[in-house]
Amino acid sequence: MEIVILPNTAEVGRLAADQIESLLAGKAHAVLGLATGSSPLPIYRELEQRYQSGTVSFARARAFTLDEYVGLPDGHPEQYREVIRKEFTDKVDFDPANVHGPAGNAAGTHYACQAYEKAVQAAGGVDLQILGIGTDGHIGFNEPGSSLASRTRIKTLTEQTRRDNARFFDSLDEVPRHVVTQGLGTILEASHILLAATGANKAQAVRHLVEGPVSALCPASALQLHPHVTVLLDDAAASQL
Ligand code: GLP
Repeated sequence: MEIVILPNTAEVGRLAADQIESLLAGKAHAVLGLATGSSPLPIYRELEQRYQSGTVSFARARAFTLDEYVGLPDGHPEQYREVIRKEFTDKVDFDPANVHGPAGNAAGTHYACQAYEKAVQAAGGVDLQILGIGTDGHIGFNEPGSSLASRTRIKTLTEQTRRDNARFFDSLDEVPRHVVTQGLGTILEASHILLAATGANKAQAVRHLVEGPVSALCPASALQLHPHVTVLLDDAAASQL
């Protein structure tokens, strides 16, 4: 696991964008794993600027998102499918047909999850997975207690995660209780994982991720088992290392 401590979030965005730019330079059909949350936003801003200056193109790239809320009506602004579109893929030359996400409202959730796993595999797997980390150590929406071998499935959110994410909704009551998320086993199959964490509220989760035992109590610690993980931190997120 490579740990990089940077002075600010803009530098986190630049370093991550460098990695993505070189991936796309070598493989136009690259498969990106995209994450929501505020942590990846500096990466998306930097990639948008590089697209505008003609340095990078996503025209032939494909993307798979990590997770989705269950029960939000289609088109709801907080549906992750919408968030990824607004924050990133609509701002660059991604073909919308090449951007995929797990279905949060499928009639047969179990079969939809299996189909999503197959779609990732049919694309050749994820070349580079962007990740944030929850304050309780979750990645995607794999909450503490998630099996290290888990695959895409429905999960119940912890109260802490619902409270953390309430800032995006009008009230806590509106935050869904259930989600569909790629499993830890799914995430660990990406060739390269790039986790971004900034701010003091992530310091404890980052310490468990980097220095703690590999344990389902901190799902992000499963990344210690992966051969190619880059953790991009600012000083505050690195303050407990
Ligand atoms: C959500 C997402 C995660 C994300 C986490 C942290 O729960 N499902 O993928 O990593 O939030 O979000 P933020 O980066 O806004 O702190």
